[in-house]
Amino acid sequence: MHTTVAIVGGGPAGLLLARLLHNAGIDSVVLERRDRAYVEQRQRAGILEQATVDALRAAGAGARLDREGLVHDGIELRFRRRTHRVDFPALTGGRRVWVYAQTEVVKDLIALQLSDGGPLLFDAEVLTVEGAATPRPVVRYAHEGREQTLTCDYVVGCDGFHGIVRGVVPESVRTTHERTYPYSWLGILAEAPPVYDELIYAHSERGFALASMRSPTVSRLYLQVPNGTDPADWPDERIWDELDARLATDTEPGWRLERGAVTAKSVLPMRSSVTEPMRHGRVFLAGDAAHIVPPTGAKGLNLAAADVTVLARAFAHLDRTGSAELLDAYSDTCLRRVWRAEHFSYFMTTMLHTDPAQDGFDTGLQLSQLDRIATSPHAAAELAENYTGLPLGVPAAGPSS
Ligand code: APR
Ligand code: PHB
Repeated sequence: MHTTVAIVGGGPAGLLLARLLHNAGIDSVVLERRDRAYVEQRQRAGILEQATVDALRAAGAGARLDREGLVHDGIELRFRRRTHRVDFPALTGGRRVWVYAQTEVVKDLIALQLSDGGPLLFDAEVLTVEGAATPRPVVRYAHEGREQTLTCDYVVGCDGFHGIVRGVVPESVRTTHERTYPYSWLGILAEAPPVYDELIYAHSERGFALASMRSPTVSRLYLQVPNGTDPADWPDERIWDELDARLATDTEPGWRLERGAVTAKSVLPMRSSVTEPMRHGRVFLAGDAAHIVPPTGAKGLNLAAADVTVLARAFAHLDRTGSAELLDAYSDTCLRRVWRAEHFSYFMTTMLHTDPAQDGFDTGLQLSQLDRIATSPHAAAELAENYTGLPLGVPAAGPSS
């Protein structure tokens, strides 16, 4: 088999790239290690920036999102047992975000690709990528019980944090920058109405909590827990009690969350990581394969969508004009946005969580930063601009000369 672009991984990055290439008249093959049901059920975050919504619409995958997505004009910050609202449109000149689960994005993209697109193979595990520096890279993969070969003009590694394509960039030119955090998230899905009509990010003496949602009847809730936590140590009632305690305010004493059946429960580690450069020869990295962020800033899916939008435009430019100029700029273009999101995710994470080694000085700094956001429109706008995301095509500014 031969194709123009071999895409390794059928998560949001790989699937969206395949759609954008298809619409530009460029053929691709997506190879996904897992089966369709697994990919469609994996629970991930659910906040989409305007640029991500635009990319999904451009890919033809905006119809259900426009019907079922929940538009959010702000978030609530809870700290000092009080609430402060950050109003996105007022602070950013009209920008907002959408609540629409990544699992739903993935389902929409898979349905489109299977009905009208190039090959999307499940249970197809890529074993090796050879010839990155040659005009005809070769991808070997296991499918239907045997090893198969795909030749191509380009390979894009959309194979996530544990993928193999990153390893194709030789160690001599590859650098990975990383941070781990001394806490994780315990996340649940519950058949309970959202706590409030916007997301609540809570700083408390007992640790961080986040009240999010999937629909008007389903809540997605998170608690900071120690690394290595076994979800079995958190029976449902303990989770609800802890959410009540961390989300409590003095303005509504005795307030309790509405409880419901817990339908999923898992522990998520937190990590920041960036691999540079995001390209070697004819092999490109996109999404979690190149970078990950802790979920506090809700940037993971948005960064993946931004990478593949930039990459699809670069392939289309090459196809139309013969110029590789945009492909050559891919890594630098993406890394500007990646580092901005890395900074913001780190900022949100360290401002809101309690480090086990935290002392009064650290807590004083966190509360001072939160007070600043609550009292200065400049500080609030900085958060709002980052949360709602930069439009694509606007580079994070650097020196002008
Ligand atoms: N061969 C084929 N497929 C592979 C291989 C391989 N060797 N290794 C990994 N994969 C597949 C995984 O099974 C997975 O479906 O690559 C896909 C990678 O998808 P994601 O991990 O979802 O990564 P990405 O598409 O970059 O999406 C980023 O996911 O982790 C979240 O918060 C993150 O929302 C962000 C989004
Ligand atoms: C989610 O709904 O899963 C979610 C929302 C916001 C975040 C992280 C996760 O910052």
